[in-house]
Formats: sequence, structure tokens, C-alpha cells
Amino acid sequence: MTTFVLFGGTGDLAKRKIIPALFSAFVNGRLDKNFMFIGAAREALADEDFRQRVSASIESYCAKDCGSTPEQLQAFLAKTHYAKIDAREAADFQGLKEKLHTSESNATLFYLATGPDLFEPIVQQLSVHDLVSGNARVVVEKPLGRDAQSARDINAALRKYLKENQIYRIDHYLGKEMVQNLLALRFANSFLEPLWNRKWIQDVQISISEQVGVESRGDFYDHTGALRDMVQNHLLQLLSIVAMEPPVNAGADSIRDEKVKVLRALHKFTPDEVSKKTVRGQYRAGAVDGKPVISYQAEPGVPTASRTETFVAIRAEIDNWRWAGVPFFLRTGKRMATRSAEITINFKPIPYSIFGASQRNLRSNRLVISLQPEESVELFLKAKEPGEGIRLSDVALNLDFAEASSSRRVESYERLLLDAMHGDLTLFVRDDELTAAWDWIDPIMSAWQSDTEGLKSYIAGSWGPAAASYLLAQSGSSWGEEF
Ligand code: BG6
Repeated sequence: MTTFVLFGGTGDLAKRKIIPALFSAFVNGRLDKNFMFIGAAREALADEDFRQRVSASIESYCAKDCGSTPEQLQAFLAKTHYAKIDAREAADFQGLKEKLHTSESNATLFYLATGPDLFEPIVQQLSVHDLVSGNARVVVEKPLGRDAQSARDINAALRKYLKENQIYRIDHYLGKEMVQNLLALRFANSFLEPLWNRKWIQDVQISISEQVGVESRGDFYDHTGALRDMVQNHLLQLLSIVAMEPPVNAGADSIRDEKVKVLRALHKFTPDEVSKKTVRGQYRAGAVDGKPVISYQAEPGVPTASRTETFVAIRAEIDNWRWAGVPFFLRTGKRMATRSAEITINFKPIPYSIFGASQRNLRSNRLVISLQPEESVELFLKAKEPGEGIRLSDVALNLDFAEASSSRRVESYERLLLDAMHGDLTLFVRDDELTAAWDWIDPIMSAWQSDTEGLKSYIAGSWGPAAASYLLAQSGSSWGEEF
């Protein structure tokens, strides 16, 4: 069936995510018996050297979930090969072509886990060597641009050699189980839709907090920052799924047609609005889970006077009939108090309380969709506490997916790899979505560049700068952990 060629095969992402995902798919019987895996990178390695690395990566990053036997590992390694490829060396691609011809597969998936500067040279060489005609597909990893113009350039470069439906722009958040569940929640249940609009919803919060710092990626991260690393892609993708209109069917383009409309309807900020509706921060030394951690500026690869943001909070708005006036609060940060990814829909308060003044200040209903660490949907309702008189409190109707279903949890990279192999583009980002997201990010980025005072600091292990709480307080709201 498929040959999987991984450019950047010796890199960090390959080691931590892609190889373990491929192996897990293999162990779980999701790959064809004729499947072949070719790692490609500039380094000169023998097949055997590469197999050792593959084996080490599986041992370090796949242990708990893969549940494999030594025989399965050996069988996978027997299908693993290596090609030394310099993206600008035509002869290296000739070698790859010869390797591909020996495989019995009839479709090739090229995965470009490289910097974006190598996308065009690689795809050009693949095209020159007639490797991207027919059934070939190409997966490209972020960062897909630094701004709208560079994203357009990347799209144009890819489109010189590929059709749009051969291009799989990966955003691994779309492969998370709960993201698809969000589609099911919204479009397979009838009771939510009448409430899913400005009449009933007060605000929406989308928060991805991480406890990790920049790990070994200090240099890369310092040129990127949280806005480009997380907001432009993961947060805006989640926002577009929460806010989109019902698609005509669940096909890739029907869903992407609706998502792009939301991205285009995002209200673009003026420089003045940027200063009022965005908060950016950088962590100083502190403690995460009781363990001391260094400041961002002391991380390896980060300049000591760096002004790069490791935290962002934004009050976004969508200019359309369904959402006009409803704030969408986005937040993400490194070295925060906990690791979690959550979408909270805060419903409007009741118009009048019949229970008297003491019961008035209760928080109104909310729906919390957790993507990680647990996968759950909780609907918080008001109920009477048992006993005399009426005392109201919040109770949660809790749908815990780990309890509700014992089916195997598929990691997002595995799901997306399999989707790409099967030609399903639903969970990949289309060119117009990518550029619409950048078109919204660009004015924020340029206003920040000319406002050198705006960067706040926060203590590692906290929930970010106080200004992020103020941002919500101005709209009478607060972040989930503040209740
Ligand atoms: C990546 C970012 O896209 O997502 C990383 O580049 C971040 O900086 C990661 O740590 C978070 O993904 P997850 O799945 O661990 O929440």
C-alpha cells in the first residue's frame, strides 16, 4: 500500500512524535503488510544506524502506549530504511527514486518534518524525479510562515508542484480526540444549537497552558514566540471549530469552507485595540509543581535580553450575526501552573433570581470541554444543596471519555498520519485557512513590534501576568481557575 518517506527523519519531532506514532499504527495493525518506511536526512547513515535510532526513539517515547512485543519491533525495523538526502542534491533524489521502485507499494506519503525553507527544494526535486504524480501526498509541518506574506509564499511554492488536495498541512491539535468530539457534540445533538449564539452565550474561553518551558528549542522559540507557535495555529483552529456554522456534510471541504469563514470574520485589530485587547508575557524564574525552574532569558539558546513572549492572552471578536459582541478569550503560555487544554462556553446569567439576594452571585451555567490531560465534557448546572432551605451550588454533569469508552486512545500524530495515508484531508489545514489566520495575526505582531513596553513578566508556575485576569474582568468574566 503505502511507502512513508520522512524528511527530517533524524530530527527531534521525528524522534519524539512521528516515529512512535508510525510504530503504534503498525503494532495496532493499521498499516498494510507491504508498508515501507524510509527515513531521510542529510547525515550519512547506514540502514542499520538509522534502525538503532528508530528503536531508541520507540523505547523512549512509545513505551507505555504501544504495548509491542520484541517480534513486532523487529518486524517494524525490517521495513525501515534510510536515504541520505541533501534537499538541494538532485543525485540524492535519484537514489530515493530507486529505493521507492523496489517497494511494492502504490502510494507514497512524503512527510516534510523540516524547516519551511526546505519545502520548495524538496518538492521541486520530488517533482523533477516524477515522484509526486499520481497518488503521492505531502505532509508539511509548522511553522508554515512567519506572517501572511511568507505563508502565501510557502503555499505558492508548494502549489507549483502539487495540487491542493495533495498537500496535508498538519496541525496536531486537530488530531486530538476531543476536537472531533467537538464536531459530534455540536452537530450530532439537537439541544445545543439553539443556545450556540450571542443570545445565550456570554463568552468563550480557549486556554492551552503548558508546564514545560522551551526545552531544547530555545533558539527556534526565541524567533517564534507564543503568538506564532500556538495562537496562529492551534488556538485559532479550535476557535474556528467552536464558532463555525453547521457544514453541509462532514466532508473535508465542507468543514474547511465553514472554518475559513470564521477566520475571515475575526475582527482585525487597530494598533490601539492591540494594546487594549492583548496581553503578552515572559516567564521569570519560579517553581512548577514545586520544582524550581530558571527564567526564560536564562534558557539555553535564548538571548539574555530577549523580548519574546512565552504567554499570550487575547480578547478576540467575530464580526458576524451569530457571534457579534461575544468575546472569545484565547490564552496560552509556557511554564504555567498546570498542563491543560480547555474550551469553556460561559452561558448568560438568568435574567432574574427568584431565590433572593444571597443566591445572586453564583456563576452562570457553563460547558467545559477538556482536551487534555483528561478528555471530558462537563456541563455545570445549578442545583439545590440537600437539607433545609434553598442553597444553590454548581453541580457538573460529567462525561468522562476514559470511563465512557475503553476503546484504544489514538495519539493525534498517529490519527493524522493514518488520515493522510487514506487521503482524508478533513483534519488538515487548507491554504485559505492558513492565510486567513495569518491575516489576523499580522496586525497584532506589528503593533507589538512597535510597542516595546508591552511585555509583562510572570512567575514560572503561575497563571501568567495579572493583566490577563484584568482583560477578562473588564468584560465581567474570569478564567476558569479563578473561581
Ligand atoms: C507545538 C508547539 O505545536 O505544540 C510546542 O510548537 C508546544 O511549543 C506543543 O509545546 C504543545 O502540544 P501538546 O499536544 O503537548 O499540547
